[in-house]
Amino acid sequence: MNQSLPHLPVLLEETISRLYTDPDGIYLDGTVGFGGHAEALLSKLSKDGQLIGIDLDPYALEYTEKRLSAPRNSYSLLNGNYREYPFLLQTLGVDTLTGILFDLGTSSSQLNTGRRGFSFQEDAPLDMRLNPNADYSAYDFLNNSEESEISDVIREYGEERHSRKIAQMIYNKVQSNAMKTTFDLKEAVSKCVHPRFLNKSLARVFQAIRIKINDELASLKDALENSTQWLKVGGRIAIISFHSLEDRMVKQFFKNCALTCVCPREYPLCVCDTTPSLKILTRKAIIPGAEEIKNNPRSRSAKLRVAERV
Ligand SMILES: C[S@@+](CC[C@H](N)C(=O)[O-])C[C@H]1O[C@@H](n2cnc3c(N)ncnc32)[C@H](O)[C@@H]1O
Repeated sequence: MNQSLPHLPVLLEETISRLYTDPDGIYLDGTVGFGGHAEALLSKLSKDGQLIGIDLDPYALEYTEKRLSAPRNSYSLLNGNYREYPFLLQTLGVDTLTGILFDLGTSSSQLNTGRRGFSFQEDAPLDMRLNPNADYSAYDFLNNSEESEISDVIREYGEERHSRKIAQMIYNKVQSNAMKTTFDLKEAVSKCVHPRFLNKSLARVFQAIRIKINDELASLKDALENSTQWLKVGGRIAIISFHSLEDRMVKQFFKNCALTCVCPREYPLCVCDTTPSLKILTRKAIIPGAEEIKNNPRSRSAKLRVAERV
C-alpha cells in the first residue's frame, strides 16, 4: 500500500467485494473522505454506473476531486452531513440506491493535522469539528457544560473509567480560564491517570469529545433508519465502525431489520406477518488481518458489517 496517501482505506477488498453487485448501479459513499473506497468502487462501474460521495470535510473532498480519474459524469462529490443523504440525493434526482457505504469516524489526515485539534500529540486550539464551518467546537462544549455533562460524555462515548475525576479536573481548569488547547485537556487527563495508561485514556477522552461535538451517534442512527427505504432489492449496505457503541448500533439495526417474527414469546403461533427488510451477510463482523494491522495500525479497531435489502 502507498504510505504517502493521506489516508489508507480500511478493509478495502473485504468491503468492495461485498458492496458491489451491479456495474450499472448507483452507490452512495456517505463518508467519501480521501476517496480510497470510492476509487476502488468506481473502477468496477460501467459508464452507466454512478457514485455519490458525501463528506463533512471540504479539505478531504478537494483531495478526492483531484484523486479520482473516473469520467467526471460518473460521480458527484457533495459537502454535507451523510445523515441528510435523502435530501442530498433528491437534489441530484436519485431515488434509489444499489449500495450504501459508511466508513465512520475520522481519517488519518484529520487526526494528523494538529491544528484541527483531534490529536493529543500536538498543541492546538480545542476544535475537533469535522465540518470546519460548524458553529460548535470542543472548546464550546468544554467551556459551557456542567461538570456532570462532561463526565457523562467521557464515560458514555469514551468508556473511560476515570471519567468523573477527569471531568472535575477539566471543570477546575475551565473555572480558572485555562481550558483552551489540546494540551490543556491533555494536562487535565494526565493529572487523573497513571502515566502507564495515559495514552489510552487520552485517546478515549479525545474520541468521546469528538463524537459529542459532531453528534456522530445520532447521525448514524438517522442514516441507518433511512437506508432500507433507499436501497433497492438486492442492494447492500456496508458499515465500517471503529467504536463499540457504533458497532452495537449497526448490529442491532441489522438484527431488527432481519427479524421474521416480532410476536410476544408466549404466542403459540406467529400472527405478526413480519417481512424482513434486510438479510445479514456478515454473521460476525469482519475485522482486519494481521498484515493490514501491521501496514495500517489505525485499522486495528475496525469492524465491517454488511446486509442486503430483501
Ligand atoms: C474513516 S474516514 C473515510 C475514509 C474513506 N473511506 C477513504 O477511503 O478515504 C471518515 C470520513 O467520514 C467523514 N464524516 C464523519 N462523519 C460524517 C458525517 N456525519 N457526514 C459526512 N461525513 C462524515 C469524515 O470527515 C471523514 O472524512
